Amino acid sequence: MIEMASHETETTRPNETDTRATLRAARETSDRIWQDIRAGRTERYRILTGDRPTGFLHIGHYFGTLKSRVELQNLGIDTTVLIADYQVITDRDNIGNVREYVLNLVADYLAAGIDPAKSTIFCHSQVPAIHEMLVIFLSLVTEAELHRNPTVKAEMEAAERPMTGLLLTYPVHQAADILCAQANLVPVGQDQLPHLEQTRVVAKRFNKRYPQRDAAGNKVKDSHGVLPLAQALLGRGSMILGTDGQKMSKSRHNTVELGASAEETAKIIKKAVTDSNREITYDPVGRPEVANLLLIASLCTGQSPEDLAAEIGSGGGGALKQLVTEALNEHLAAHRARRAQLLEDPGYLWGVLREGNEKVADLGADTLRAMKQAMGMNYGF
Ligand code: TRP
Repeated sequence: MIEMASHETETTRPNETDTRATLRAARETSDRIWQDIRAGRTERYRILTGDRPTGFLHIGHYFGTLKSRVELQNLGIDTTVLIADYQVITDRDNIGNVREYVLNLVADYLAAGIDPAKSTIFCHSQVPAIHEMLVIFLSLVTEAELHRNPTVKAEMEAAERPMTGLLLTYPVHQAADILCAQANLVPVGQDQLPHLEQTRVVAKRFNKRYPQRDAAGNKVKDSHGVLPLAQALLGRGSMILGTDGQKMSKSRHNTVELGASAEETAKIIKKAVTDSNREITYDPVGRPEVANLLLIASLCTGQSPEDLAAEIGSGGGGALKQLVTEALNEHLAAHRARRAQLLEDPGYLWGVLREGNEKVADLGADTLRAMKQAMGMNYGF
């Protein structure tokens, strides 16, 4: 039997009220942590964040997560960036050119300002401890709990194919990513909150069932347990929509990839959806597509979307698109030049990744050793 404290049962069985309450609680915790960070109390945090290499990064990633990762790193927080390559195989048969995506991800991270001297970039297929931890963690969750994860449910519906065992269990796999790196802070979007909850549940159950022990088997006094409780850090980055006003995603062809040329960018923005009102105004509710384009231009130029709208006035969609294209191309020029230069030396990029892999593999092995020690499965071999 899996022991579950009553509050755990509650938070892993969300109905709508629970979901809203969970979101509110996560926001409050996240705001408190932001205050802490702003006040310079950064040494208590270890960040793990990551992406699935299902394609090339685009401006949604750039404004949504990339910039804030760099900011957190530069505030002095220990930051690890994960390329979750095994997550690519959760929901598709055709995984594409993963090797190419991984290499480009490393290039985009570095071009955006992730500094390998300060932060660690790694790929989880290269860290065996994570996948071994998954075995232990799967013993701590029920099948029913896995089926209740709202994000997994949504992904399963979107995939329109039978759910694989790995899709069902990937939140637990993600818990292993986080806990192997001993991270206690995970910058994520709202959709990832159930996974963070799952991560804390797994850690709490492990710590309760297997109190920390030293190599000789003695319980470690005053220990909170082997595994940390990780909190979500909800993004302060900007959520931008695709050029059709829908959720930005590669499969919808409504994104501008960071590696796109200036001409390709112009082409994509030209096809963006606007409306027939030639007077440009910033009205996110009434005119979401126009507002989204203004927001993109605003993020690039630092001018407010309202000011940009006033500048265009009755110039219509054409003038708006021209402004967005120029703003994007200008803003991304330095990033694009850096990523292109980095990609000229793949050996360097693979080297950065190899070093990161080795570092996290060591850290993961330490975590796993402590877990096995707590379980009494250290046989002294
Ligand atoms: N599931 C995340 C996504 O789809 C990627 C991811 C995998 C991740 N493991 C993680 C994110 C650990 C944060 C921490 O974007």
